Amino acid sequence: MDFKAEIAKKINALVDMEFEKVMELIEIPPQTNMGDYAFPCFQLARVMKKSPNMIAAEISGKVQADSIVEKAEAVGGYVNFFINKKEYIKLIIQEVLEKGEKFGSSEEGKGKNVIVEFSSVNVAKPFHVGHLFNTILGSSLEKVFRHSGYNTIRINHLGDWGTQFGKLISAYKRWINEEALEKEPISELFRIYVKFHEEAEKDPALEDEARAYFKKLEEGDPEVTMLWQRFKDLSLREFSEIYEMLNVEFDSYAGESFYSDKMDEVVQMLREKKLLKDSNGAKIVDLEQFNIPPIMILKSDGATIYATRDLAAAIYRKRTYDFYKNIYVVGGTQSLHFNQIFSTLGLMGFEWSKDCVHIGHGLVKFADKKLSTRKGDVVFAKDVMNEAVHKTMEVIEHKNPNLENKKEVARKVGMGALLYTFLKNNREKDVVFTWEDALNFDGDSGPYVQYTYVRGRSILQKAGYVPDTADLSYLSTEDEFQLVKLLGAFKDSVKEAVERYEPFVIVRHVTEIAKAYNKFYNTHPILNADENVKNARLQLTKAVGTVIQTGLSLAGIETPENM
Ligand code: ARG
Repeated sequence: MDFKAEIAKKINALVDMEFEKVMELIEIPPQTNMGDYAFPCFQLARVMKKSPNMIAAEISGKVQADSIVEKAEAVGGYVNFFINKKEYIKLIIQEVLEKGEKFGSSEEGKGKNVIVEFSSVNVAKPFHVGHLFNTILGSSLEKVFRHSGYNTIRINHLGDWGTQFGKLISAYKRWINEEALEKEPISELFRIYVKFHEEAEKDPALEDEARAYFKKLEEGDPEVTMLWQRFKDLSLREFSEIYEMLNVEFDSYAGESFYSDKMDEVVQMLREKKLLKDSNGAKIVDLEQFNIPPIMILKSDGATIYATRDLAAAIYRKRTYDFYKNIYVVGGTQSLHFNQIFSTLGLMGFEWSKDCVHIGHGLVKFADKKLSTRKGDVVFAKDVMNEAVHKTMEVIEHKNPNLENKKEVARKVGMGALLYTFLKNNREKDVVFTWEDALNFDGDSGPYVQYTYVRGRSILQKAGYVPDTADLSYLSTEDEFQLVKLLGAFKDSVKEAVERYEPFVIVRHVTEIAKAYNKFYNTHPILNADENVKNARLQLTKAVGTVIQTGLSLAGIETPENM
């Protein structure tokens, strides 16, 4: 039952305004003493040539109490509706208990394919905290879309092609330490890559050598291809450890190299459409009409680049998945690049270019300078994750040394702390990371919400049962009503998260639920209440746990059973 829609129906029957319009206008009042829903009469006033106050009074006078509405009041041009609390509480709790982890899901996206590209790390380069933010955000976004019924496809557009592989091969031949390569592949590959740049400054001939190697790679030279494949395998081995810790999976790893044989067609298409222009020997597409700089398609030596591969990838994705939306979760610094790609696709006549979306995000900064940076300014994702789990273990050893499954709990809570930190604010905002905030069990943090879940579980365990049926009219306090209202509004948050491509909406929402539950818990007895009240509160506790668990799982955060 959708109370808002029911109220809109009532209004729609009383005034000359379409149902959809009424739905759009209905607001949630800022204060609870102003009711649960409010309908502003200002638009009607213009059409009806009456004052909003008068219209509000007329509407409220005609609303009768029933199973939906308890009462309606006219205040300052608004009709404030107070919903029938008992009915509402009953309906919501029953729905949560019935649907379980499916609560808040919908069929909105049924039959629609949505590509979510995220992580897209670079072979032989560090998986740094920027990629970590990206991976966490993209993975959550995909889960949110899936919860809304979309058929999602998770793509990791690996950076596994380009002139840098020529440099890497040249560096490998000169400076590789095989033992280090087996032990810590990415560190070693990154070391020789950095060295290459240092040496090339002194000896520019190295650049020519690298170019020649990349050319060999493009031509499929067996030895060079084997090396490239080895770099890729070793890198993926390290990446997969990170993905495992994050519970992240992909449906496709089709990255840049996958398109190496699909670019000729793109260049051909651009040529036929007369979009290619000469610029000092290079080929570009002019984008002046969009007020952005031209995009380069072929370098003066005829080599393709990053952008060319992105054009090929978009076309391939449309053909393969016939996407409804093609979402690129990539740092905000690449927004011009995607603007250029999408504009070029539009010029090529692909009307679906409007279905391609770049979802940007901010940078990751560290307030604690101590965070181990092993090389230069790069902070490795692996180090941050290990430290999160390690620090959580220390807290557990200190606070609860006899806890069962300590390791498991430390992993869930440590990772939860990290994931929460990246998802608690809007994605455009830079993440300023401190361990103090991340691991603060009392503030807006993963552990705080997880702890609330655990608290609920332990109450249910102490009770020894959750009643199958309970008279929920015993949930009669305002704290309980406000808590249930938050459970009921969870669906709206999922919807908003999809519309805004913003998982933080859900993270905030479960935090609000946790706060409301703790307030309830601190004010009202559960296990010591009268039988009827106790049973109703146990059901409420179960429902709260279910919604918290679902919300956290959409963020990729697991819930421990104790901590
Ligand atoms: N590999 C790139 C990087 O780490 C990101 C790739 C983004 N995706 C794309 N389709 N261009 O910066």
